Amino acid sequence: MTRISSAPYLQQLDGLTSFERAVCQPFMLGLFMPHQQGAWTPSKAPRKTSWTFEYNAELAVRVDEAGFDLIFALATWLGKGGYGGDIHFREHSIDPFITSAALAPLTHNVLLISTIHVLYGWHPLHIAKYGAVIDHISHGRWGLNVVTGYRSDEAGMFGHEAFPHNQRYAMADEFTTVMKRLWTEDQNLDYTGEWYKTTGAFVAPKPVNGLPVLVSAGSSPSGMDYATSHADIIFATSPTGADPGKACTSLPQRIMPIKAQARQKGREVKILVNPHVICRPTEKEAQAWYKRIRDERDEVAVTNFFNAFTGGDQSSWRQHSALDWAVGGNLHLVGTPEMIVEWFVRLRQVGVDGVQVNFFDFGPDLDDFITTVLPLMQQAGLRHAMPKEESGSESHDRANAAPRGCQSD
Ligand SMILES: Cc1cc2nc3c(=O)[nH]c(=O)nc-3n(C[C@H](O)[C@H](O)[C@H](O)COP(=O)(O)O)c2cc1C
Repeated sequence: MTRISSAPYLQQLDGLTSFERAVCQPFMLGLFMPHQQGAWTPSKAPRKTSWTFEYNAELAVRVDEAGFDLIFALATWLGKGGYGGDIHFREHSIDPFITSAALAPLTHNVLLISTIHVLYGWHPLHIAKYGAVIDHISHGRWGLNVVTGYRSDEAGMFGHEAFPHNQRYAMADEFTTVMKRLWTEDQNLDYTGEWYKTTGAFVAPKPVNGLPVLVSAGSSPSGMDYATSHADIIFATSPTGADPGKACTSLPQRIMPIKAQARQKGREVKILVNPHVICRPTEKEAQAWYKRIRDERDEVAVTNFFNAFTGGDQSSWRQHSALDWAVGGNLHLVGTPEMIVEWFVRLRQVGVDGVQVNFFDFGPDLDDFITTVLPLMQQAGLRHAMPKEESGSESHDRANAAPRGCQSD
């Protein structure tokens, strides 16, 4: 059975929206949901990670209670057997858009980011309307990761040829422009673009806080151009594979141009990376787990997964090896809680604004992270503690409190 978060409604305490609160944190923290079979890791090593709604709902509630900023759900379309192998990697998955709607009443503060392939048969009016509704159900906590689809076999499932790479981002740009107008304009919209057209379209209610949080993860010049025009949060991938030491050297070359380009457009963006965290009380234990996950990889699933990510016309993940993909995630952070936090500190120093973590055995690994890593992040100045509910009558009168803005470190 699903349970509801016991976290206080922070907006009543600090007057901030979830996104405003997230960007006040020195280092943003999100969870990559494992809502597809096997999550990020095509390995047969033992674990209880599950794609089911109940399992993911419990994780969402735990991160809400622990004060994470966001949870993120990816979208992928696969044929029978998923990426294959004995483990039928990612064959089962629950849809991120519908899942976000279902998680909204179970959580209180965390941003719910769902991924949508906007070019697979949707009209901007659909997403503008459905997204505004989820935003209302969640009281302004819904966000959208706009993806254009980097696997050409997905396009075939929707009955069309894959669109050329740059055209995909041009289409997404038009799609997003129409959505934004529907979310903000107070009159019927007539629009005729190159790919989308609408006459007399209107969306009400509008999203709760103006525009919902928009997310993007492109690496190519056109992907970056799209992201810096529209996204609030941009995922950067390591240009040098999963080794965090190398990534700390190479990431600035990826991050700085994105931030500069956004600023030229008058926009500030937050850059996140998605590390896979393998944390144990000793480094030896962490390295042993890391080795075991890789040793027990499902070779067929790894090969298919690796080929999907490194093939095609996309520019992310180009330097990741097949062995990197046996673990998954963009960087591999392996070690004690202190070592994990040290990596976070280094990532922040090179311009990363936060991480969205994924794990192997999500339930226990997340619990360990919350009890051992999170307090050290607070000590290191990476995270503010969650505001506490005050006892007595004052706390009940906070609903209309003026936003207090970011607290200083
Ligand atoms: C953290 C992260 C999450 C992503 N989530 C998805 C997703 O859920 N579905 C999808 O089709 N693509 C996803 N992508 C892929 C990107 O949208 C994009 O296609 C890819 O990074 C290639 O960028 P490019 O087209 O600019 O080369 C994700 C990428 C990253 C780095």
